[in-house]
Amino acid sequence: MPSLLSADFADLGSAVRGVEAAGACCLHLDIMDGHFVPNITFGPMVVRALRPLTRMQFLTHLMIYRPEDFIEEFVRAGADSVTVHVEACTHLHRVVQQIRAAGASPGAALNPATPLSTVEYILEDIDLLLIMTVNPGFGGQEFIEGMLPKISDARRMVERTGRSIDVAVDGGVDAETSRRIVSAGANLLIAGNSVFNGHLGIAESLRELEASAASVSEGSW
Ligand code: DX5
Ligand code: ZN
Repeated sequence: MPSLLSADFADLGSAVRGVEAAGACCLHLDIMDGHFVPNITFGPMVVRALRPLTRMQFLTHLMIYRPEDFIEEFVRAGADSVTVHVEACTHLHRVVQQIRAAGASPGAALNPATPLSTVEYILEDIDLLLIMTVNPGFGGQEFIEGMLPKISDARRMVERTGRSIDVAVDGGVDAETSRRIVSAGANLLIAGNSVFNGHLGIAESLRELEASAASVSEGSW
């Protein structure tokens, strides 16, 4: 799934149309507040402005403190899914319920150093578990190899629930790392730099990523 973070911010509309034309079903939108992460991107107004341009699902990744203050606004703006960071939520269970009640699909994201046990008892309530494989804040960072066992553990944990919870990976995903990521157990790969800044162009980069992920036999985790 393409992440808009690496697109040309002076021409986001073209970027959205471009990834949809390339066959993407969903778009990852990175929301940063300059406090939870050392960078600022955009808020609900931009999500709302992009919404009429595409039929793609909008998956918002909130890298902000006090996400509970903005959930309804993001959903009204057109977010289909809202993922919050466990490190930013004092009452994660309540926030996840709030996302569901607002009409969106809830997700929980973990920074690289945050253990999986922090979401163990709320797995029944989320649809997506996002494993960060870089420290959030910027695109184009190197994949942290030490996260591969965490992805496998996440897959095992999710399987035990019997529910279909996506295990998503965000950060440093490219045609090379994606094979190991899928082998480890992820089923949803988020990629910014390798989609928008690759030498192949958006459509070909997406195809390359898909082919690389598909070449791995699932279940090796
Ligand atoms: C990083 C963001 C990612 C970012 C990934 O904080 O959450 O979604 O776009 O970018 P790449 O694929 O360039 O590592
Ligand atoms: Zn993200």
